[in-house]
Amino acid sequence: MIPEFTLNNGVRVPAISLGTYRAKDGEEAYRSVLSALEQGYRSFDTAMFYFNEVSIGKALRESGVPRSAVQVTTKLWNDSHGYEKTHKAFEASLERLGLEYIDEYLIHWPLADDEYLGSWRAMEELYKAGSIKIIGVSNFMKHMLQSLMAQCEIKPMIDQIEFNPQFQPNSLIAFCQENGILAEAWRPLQKGALDRAPIPEIAAKHGKTNAQAVLRWLYQRGVRTLPKTTHKERMAENMDIFDFMLDEGDVAALNEMNTSVRTAESPDEFVFMGEKLIEKFRGQGYPC
Ligand SMILES: NC(=O)c1ccc[n+]([C@@H]2O[C@H](COP(=O)([O-])OP(=O)(O)OC[C@H]3O[C@@H](n4cnc5c(N)ncnc54)[C@H](OP(=O)(O)O)[C@@H]3O)[C@@H](O)[C@H]2O)c1
Repeated sequence: MIPEFTLNNGVRVPAISLGTYRAKDGEEAYRSVLSALEQGYRSFDTAMFYFNEVSIGKALRESGVPRSAVQVTTKLWNDSHGYEKTHKAFEASLERLGLEYIDEYLIHWPLADDEYLGSWRAMEELYKAGSIKIIGVSNFMKHMLQSLMAQCEIKPMIDQIEFNPQFQPNSLIAFCQENGILAEAWRPLQKGALDRAPIPEIAAKHGKTNAQAVLRWLYQRGVRTLPKTTHKERMAENMDIFDFMLDEGDVAALNEMNTSVRTAESPDEFVFMGEKLIEKFRGQGYPC
C-alpha cells in the first residue's frame, strides 16, 4: 500500500495521489477514479478548473469505498479570490462533488496580489467548522508563503508546486520542510517526457521504469506526488515504487538535472482566468 505523510495538523495523507488534470469530465474521469480505487489509490487531486469534479465525486460516492477511507483535493479558482467569493466557490465545489466535506482545499494560484488573504480567512472558518480537513495553497513561492504566514491564524498544511527533474524549486522545498508545510509535486512526470539521461540508466539499474525512478526520487526528496494517468496499467506502475531505494549517487544525478526552467507559467506573473473554458462549462455548474 501507499505510505503516508503526516501534516502539521496531524492528518495523514497518502504519499501518492492521482492527478486528474485533463481527465475529461464524464466517462474518462469517472472510470479513472474507479480504476485507481481498485489499484489501491485513496487520494485524488482535482480543481474547479479541471471541470471534472462532478464525475470524480460521482465515482467516489458510487465506488463502495467508505468516505472516511478516501481523500479528495480541490482548488479555489482565480476568479473567486476574496472572502465572500471563496465561501461561494467552496459551496459550489462541494455541491459538484456531492460530498459533505472536502479533505483538502487549496488556493490554486496566488495571483500575485493580497486578495488571497480574504480567501484564506474564509478557508480558516471552513476548516474550523469541519467542512475542510486540510487547508493549503498551490503555486505559492517563498515570499508569498511568508506573507501569508505573517498574517494568518492557521498556517498552510500544504503547498502544491511544480517539481520534476527539469524544474526543482530547492529553496522553496527547504523552506516548506523547515516550516512544517508538506510540498506536493505537480507535473512530477513532466507529462511523460522522461527519457533524458540519466533517468533511463537509473531506472534500468533498479529494474524499474523511467516514471518509477522519478517518482521514487521525489518520494526520497520528501515530497508528495500527483502523477496523472487515465490508464489502469500506469496507475499500478506509478504506485509501485516502495520496494526499492535509490542510492545517494542516483539521487545526486537526478538532482543534477535541474535546469530551473518551469514547464508552465511563473506564479509571480500568472493571472489567467480561463473565461473561455468557464464559458464552455457554464450550465453544468461551472463556475460557482
Ligand atoms: N496546482 C497546479 O497548478 C497544478 C498544475 C498542473 C498539474 N497539477 C496536478 O498535478 C497532476 C500531475 O500533473 P500533470 O497532469 O500536469 O503531469 P504529469 O502527471 O507529470 O504527467 C501526466 C502525463 O504523463 C503520462 N503518464 C502517466 N503515467 C505515465 C507512465 N508511467 N509512463 C509514461 N507516461 C505516463 C500521462 O498520460 P496518460 O494519462 O495517457 O496515461 C499524462 O500524459 C495534474 O493531473 C493535477 O492534478 C496541479
